[in-house]
Amino acid sequence: MALLKSNKVIFCLGNISPSLGALSTRNSSWWGGVQMGPPDPILGVTEAFKKDTNPKKMNLGVGAYRDDQGKPFVLSCVRKAEALIASKQLDKEYLPIGGLGDFTKACAQLALGADNEVLKSGRSITVQTISGTGSLRIGGNFLSRFHGGPKDVYLPKPSWGNHTPIFRDAGLQLKAYRYYDPSTCGFDFSGALEDISKIPEHSVILLHACAHNPTGVDPKIEQWKEISEVVKKRNLLVFFDMAYQGFASGDIDRDAWAVRHFIEQGHNIVLSQSFAKNMGLYGERVGGFTVVCGSAEEAKRVESQLKILIRPIYSNPPMNGARIASTILSTPDLRALWLEEVHGMANRIIKMREQLVAGLKKNGSTHNWQHVIDQIGMFCFTGLKPEQVERLIKEFSVYMTKDGRISMAGVSSGNVGYLADSIHAVTK
Ligand SMILES: Cc1ncc(COP(=O)(O)O)c(C=O)c1O
Repeated sequence: MALLKSNKVIFCLGNISPSLGALSTRNSSWWGGVQMGPPDPILGVTEAFKKDTNPKKMNLGVGAYRDDQGKPFVLSCVRKAEALIASKQLDKEYLPIGGLGDFTKACAQLALGADNEVLKSGRSITVQTISGTGSLRIGGNFLSRFHGGPKDVYLPKPSWGNHTPIFRDAGLQLKAYRYYDPSTCGFDFSGALEDISKIPEHSVILLHACAHNPTGVDPKIEQWKEISEVVKKRNLLVFFDMAYQGFASGDIDRDAWAVRHFIEQGHNIVLSQSFAKNMGLYGERVGGFTVVCGSAEEAKRVESQLKILIRPIYSNPPMNGARIASTILSTPDLRALWLEEVHGMANRIIKMREQLVAGLKKNGSTHNWQHVIDQIGMFCFTGLKPEQVERLIKEFSVYMTKDGRISMAGVSSGNVGYLADSIHAVTK
């Protein structure tokens, strides 16, 4: 019923439940009343890019890492883990509903730190999920069914575009708190604190653990500490989305700082993790959903209900990606290689940010582009206006989402100059 409160959803329901009249006049097909839906805003960019014949075209829409030659990048640690797994000739029996045990253990340790009290006391439960999206959705379903407080999820403004439909389809209501300040292209700390301090008690707040998508703007450590205090005062349930651990700073522990701090401060958080970006396992769909509970006994009860939720959706998760991730995390030399490679990916992106700004300056741009360097992670919220984005696409074949977000992972030594020239041309 909660869904019916959203105008958007009423519109959708209208589409999927045609009136009987419409059905009888078009009885040659069951689906005659289904209207064309809008294309996905991010994947739609790729469609337009594919059709473009300009040899200089750039796709900065999708958040997938590319190497400096602009090619999809498979990490060496992944190739090695795959070879190791293949050599073992393992069976392909179903995994348990909650996933591969070795994986879920390593996944939680990666986020919380291996010696976290929560893990030692067994008062958390982690299930393997269909990457980060699946984790958020299982989390949304769990909150929808069991959260005793208001079924409102407060998202930062803006947030990853998929957060809204994920939580809405799970039956939750979406609200927002201020996050990004367009005047500084940075974090609106006072706005965020003010809004969070007014959120009704026991509501759910979603926090991006690091490398905020789409803005690339993260709170500083001191700011995280204050956010934690205000969240505690309001007694909010914290839902951390950590899709980029390691990708922000190149250091997995540093990127998990906020998650660990909140736990240390007594927040019993829920947490979504994805291995799409930091292990380059996009299509393998590897992720985890963790609930930190009050006790080990409570964790057991929560686990039982997570299994009941998962079973009728996909029964049990796929094994291949989880085997790769757990092999990397639990084999010391592969883990060391992975940490090096994560660092390498993050550093390449940082270098591209610097080169882009240098290129803009070389062109004589008088704008302040410091935010391009200050923002972190895969994305850069350029501050470009919709009409400038349109010109970049039409005149320069530089594709990005309408909000001016560019995926820095699609920028390379070979095309950063062209990107700087193009951005300068539409902003001078
Ligand atoms: C903030 C955020 N959360 C979650 C995800 C989930 O990604 P995936 O389902 O590919 O793991 C993404 C991917 O872009 C993201 O940016």
